[in-house]
Amino acid sequence: MKVTVTSPAKINISLSVGPRRADGFHDLATVFHAIDIRDTLTIEEAAPGSGPRLAVTGIDVADVPTDDTNLAMCAVRLLARQVRKDPDVTLTLNKEIPTAGGLAGGSTDAAAALVALNALWHTNLSREQLAVLAAQLGSDVVFCLSGATMMGTGRGEHVVELPHTGELNWVVAVAHDGLATPAVYSELDRLRAGKSVAAPSIPNSLSAALRDSNVTGIAREMHNDLEAAAVSLKPHLAQVLQQGRRAGAVGGLVSGSGPTCVFLSTDRQSALQIAAFLQESELVRRVVATTGPVAGAHVIARD
Ligand code: C5P
Repeated sequence: MKVTVTSPAKINISLSVGPRRADGFHDLATVFHAIDIRDTLTIEEAAPGSGPRLAVTGIDVADVPTDDTNLAMCAVRLLARQVRKDPDVTLTLNKEIPTAGGLAGGSTDAAAALVALNALWHTNLSREQLAVLAAQLGSDVVFCLSGATMMGTGRGEHVVELPHTGELNWVVAVAHDGLATPAVYSELDRLRAGKSVAAPSIPNSLSAALRDSNVTGIAREMHNDLEAAAVSLKPHLAQVLQQGRRAGAVGGLVSGSGPTCVFLSTDRQSALQIAAFLQESELVRRVVATTGPVAGAHVIARD
């Protein structure tokens, strides 16, 4: 038997970062939003004693580890331990989400692996039980299970759905070279050294704009505390943001820890125009016009 799962990329429409905690993480208040750029993971039984094996196809393949450092492999081992089974499975991952871009590509593959293995083995863990495992794998993995538009708190692992009507049109522009998430958080700490840092929060006006699908209201409230740190490490991101706005975006920001920049547009036509404009930029390596919100990791085929 074989199970195939699709799982989405995420952006942060708003990301408010509190002070560094004793465990090294930062408390967040964020609005996660799942967009229609997806990885696909197929998982099947392998010979007893073979252990988990991973093969990767699609984009950025050279940058995706296939050993135990891949978060999907960690997810397989974690779920196998939980249900006391040997992780003798083969994973085939097709990547459409750019790596190291602040789009949670690795996290969403881990979410996909949890859902796929739970279905393959008929272990019937509930979504809540999968979320407990997801939180152990990474701060964004719980959201990748749920998808949609969610408020995230804690280090990002506590998620609650935000009412959201309509579809939003986004342009995702992936800048050259990845940024390591820990380095961006450390840069933020450096930039804020000696200053008092407020508790993280999301403005009520953003929740209201999402509920009403008020595109200009959402654009006005788009904000990312990590943006200054990402721009400090990669100054050309300021130009990418400028280029997207000049091309007609109503809002733009660095997604998560970057270096991907995301732009909100009024409609599909405008998104395609912005994408075509950014395509010409030497500062970005990949541009995609897409929509959100979409569902989290879910099974699309069983054979
Ligand atoms: O949880 P995840 O593995 O995605 O986190 C990667 C790194 O990002 C952490 O080791 C930490 O340096 C930083 N981080 C943080 N605060 C968060 C989430 C991530 O400092 N809320």
